[in-house]
Amino acid sequence: MKEIKVGIIGFGTVGSGTAEVLRCQAENLRRKTGLNITLARVADRSAQSLPPEFAQCPLSNKAEDVLNDPAIDIVVELIGGIEPARTLVLGAIARGKHVVTANKALMSTAGREILAAAAEAGVTVGMEASVAGGIPVIKTLKEGMTANTINSIMGILNGTANYILSRMTDERLPFAEVLREAQDKGYAEADPSFDIDGIDTAHKLAILIALAYGINIQLKDIHVEGISRIEPIDIVYARQFGYRIKLLAISINHGDHMEARVHPTMVPENHMLASVNGAYNAVNFNGDMAGDILLYGQGAGKMPTGSAVAADIVDIARDIAAGAINRVPGLAFVEDNIIKGRITPMEQLRGAYYFRMSVMDEPGVLANIAGILGNNEISIESVIQQKRQEKGPVPVVIRTHQATEKSVVQAMNEIDKLDICAKTPVIIRILE
Ligand code: HSE
Repeated sequence: MKEIKVGIIGFGTVGSGTAEVLRCQAENLRRKTGLNITLARVADRSAQSLPPEFAQCPLSNKAEDVLNDPAIDIVVELIGGIEPARTLVLGAIARGKHVVTANKALMSTAGREILAAAAEAGVTVGMEASVAGGIPVIKTLKEGMTANTINSIMGILNGTANYILSRMTDERLPFAEVLREAQDKGYAEADPSFDIDGIDTAHKLAILIALAYGINIQLKDIHVEGISRIEPIDIVYARQFGYRIKLLAISINHGDHMEARVHPTMVPENHMLASVNGAYNAVNFNGDMAGDILLYGQGAGKMPTGSAVAADIVDIARDIAAGAINRVPGLAFVEDNIIKGRITPMEQLRGAYYFRMSVMDEPGVLANIAGILGNNEISIESVIQQKRQEKGPVPVVIRTHQATEKSVVQAMNEIDKLDICAKTPVIIRILE
């Protein structure tokens, strides 16, 4: 039986998960592929030893030992971050090795460079685990929906942010406590601000947009807002209005331009994404032929992410055996056909909005706010002003009819400058 040898760089949560998936699924994979896919070497900067079940596998503290092992066919990069991951991946490609990575930061910033180098060297780069952990979103876009023009992408792509918002909603717990829980459970990135500030979601959305539309998108093209300004009171008001607050990644294809944004969103409670709770991820692709396809599952964690890494390893192993490397282009489109693409300016968006203002409870305040909204052609759908409990500002919450982002930004700047406004207003877009 032909043997395919795998080397893993980085034996943390996902690295050890991948090794375990390959080990416990070995017989299943032999039956499915007719190949013997084996772990041949591990490199990890700090590991002193491997678990007993991998005792026969050589361990080294230097990633180069994996790159320089001539027996290894597939290098699996699981260290995360941009450098030294980029140099290692390019080094593996230069040595004629196939690569599998779960690194969304790397693939959303240096993906073009890496995939071009791989195409040149005649090797494959698999990145299924870089978006939505164990859910096969990349394969769905690249292969399952290949005969579609993708109309939209909408998803919950960060388990930590979703876990925090869900726990704040269900248990009325404060943000900081829930963040600690998420870190204890191993969902959060090394730097949790990537999860909370929406950066991790933007990395993943950039990868999906590139694959969906065949465009060259940079991270800076994506409008990103995180969840740190959401307070429990917003969650309570959202419920009163019939919504759940979710950190959504959204892209709508308008033909000659595409939306690309990540921000907290009020999702109607009967929408399927509203019931995606805890650390789960979900993404909805709308294709012009297939219609809506909703994928749901575990977007992080040892075994789910290990399962996605192993699926890429198996794909490459099959391609090696069939002599059909790069049958499916790394970015779903033939390299020469990838276009620049134009991202919709945020100011052109139109939708309904939720505003929470913290204002002094004085005569004329509401009239003042309503005047500014009216002058900016923003029509109020409903208003809630909470009774004053003690001296100091009170929350005024407004839900609008359809308005443009440009007028909302202008109106909120004007309101923020009023003396009666105690804090910068919170703005949440409403999904309709
Ligand atoms: N920190 C990520 C999340 C892990 O919370 O979803 C997987 O990318």
